[in-house]
Amino acid sequence: KRLVVLVSGSGTNLQALLDTVAATGTEAYGAEIVAVGADRDGIEGLARAERAGLPTFVCRVKDHGTRAEWDAALAGAVAAYEPDLVVSAGFMKIVGKEFLALFGGRFVNTHPALLPSFPGAHGVRDALAYGARVTGCTVHFVDDGVDTGPIIAQGVVEIRDEDDESALHERIKEVERRLLVDVVGRLARNGYRIEGRKVVIQ
Ligand code: GRF
Repeated sequence: KRLVVLVSGSGTNLQALLDTVAATGTEAYGAEIVAVGADRDGIEGLARAERAGLPTFVCRVKDHGTRAEWDAALAGAVAAYEPDLVVSAGFMKIVGKEFLALFGGRFVNTHPALLPSFPGAHGVRDALAYGARVTGCTVHFVDDGVDTGPIIAQGVVEIRDEDDESALHERIKEVERRLLVDVVGRLARNGYRIEGRKVVIQ
């Protein structure tokens, strides 16, 4: 299976996927990353892709007249690589109708909280501020809401009294990287069905 990965930041989730494919082999893992896209330049996530010899593309909102035009451009840039699965690994933009028309049902996102708790761009900070005792990460299919699509898998991470946002996020990311690698591999190897809010991996 062909994966396109979308990033906006450090790309450690992308790196976990890259390392797993390299260590396991494309056949055994069931998928290979064919391109990496971003919404901004100059991020470590793109540097990681380049070091791995992968094609990259950048689709910036400010380069397009409207948000819908950006969405269509992103959809086209991704479609050019003919992915079977698109993975948002820290991609910090909400995609629109055109993107979902093409990739809905095969667009996976990872979120650093236990959805439906703490959706949005500050899930780690929000769980900490709320005084939650556990949080975690969620890998889900993207639908037309914000972090609302059908949940595939979740991992739990305890919140410690001495945690600040970055310490907690690093601990979440340790679980998140393993969860994402496992889920993407199973989706690619086994195939899956989405039945309402349930995801069934064969
Ligand atoms: C991940 O925790 C992701 O869930 C969140 O941002 C982080 C991206 O980390 N949206 P990285 O870019 O993969 O290192």
